[in-house]
Amino acid sequence: MQIIPSEHRRDEIYKLLTGCVVPRPIAFVSSLSPAGVLNLAPFSFFSVACPYPPILCFSPGRRPDGRKKDSVVNAETTGEFVINVVTAQMAEGMNATAFDFEPEVDEFAISGFTPVASDLVKPPRVAESPIQMECRTERILEFGNGHHYVVFGEVLKFHLNEAILDDGGQINVAAVHPIGRLNRAFYCRTDDQFKLARPLQPGTVPKLEEVRSVLRAGA
Ligand SMILES: Cc1cc2nc3c(=O)[nH]c(=O)nc-3n(C[C@H](O)[C@H](O)[C@H](O)COP(=O)(O)O)c2cc1C
Repeated sequence: MQIIPSEHRRDEIYKLLTGCVVPRPIAFVSSLSPAGVLNLAPFSFFSVACPYPPILCFSPGRRPDGRKKDSVVNAETTGEFVINVVTAQMAEGMNATAFDFEPEVDEFAISGFTPVASDLVKPPRVAESPIQMECRTERILEFGNGHHYVVFGEVLKFHLNEAILDDGGQINVAAVHPIGRLNRAFYCRTDDQFKLARPLQPGTVPKLEEVRSVLRAGA
């Protein structure tokens, strides 16, 4: 099957993409409205845009009635938000925040998550999440004639729960239990890991024969 995007509707291509790009990590974005109302929402169009300075991005569409989603409005007007990692334990609460509530609805209250004060930004962090990243809005880009946005945020501070760190101070992902979004109503867990070390050091320019012999040795 071959698909030319311009020959299809937006919703068809959305469905296609959400099946093609999987699994997706989930940014659980906490923000504050200009009036000071707490907001929480999940976004699986989420990635690292730059490692240093650390810049993350998430991509909100519009509400069904055409209005901007609250997370975009808040990131734009207040210039701040927090990205919290979603664990398997947090899945149902996260899902409860994914309705298009009016901006005056506090989604911490709806979902039962606990707000905890951030250090460098005004929006609170989600206490139940073992990884919380305080961000300052770096820029917001618009795509698809204003139907979609990409919000970039520089991480000003990482908060890591001690329980997810190994002896060397690295994050032990197995202790985090983050979940990933698939398509439709499906998610995946991250508890089934496998190891694949790189046979050659990154940064070296290998000769083709060297690569072949390393691959032969590993086979
Ligand atoms: C797991 C999950 C991932 C989602 N990812 C996105 C996304 O990447 N972009 C988007 O526009 N909406 C996404 N949504 C829907 C938003 O979370 C939903 O529209 C939410 O109400 C937006 O809230 P806000 O208006 O408070 O920003 C997702 C929903 C779920 C459950």
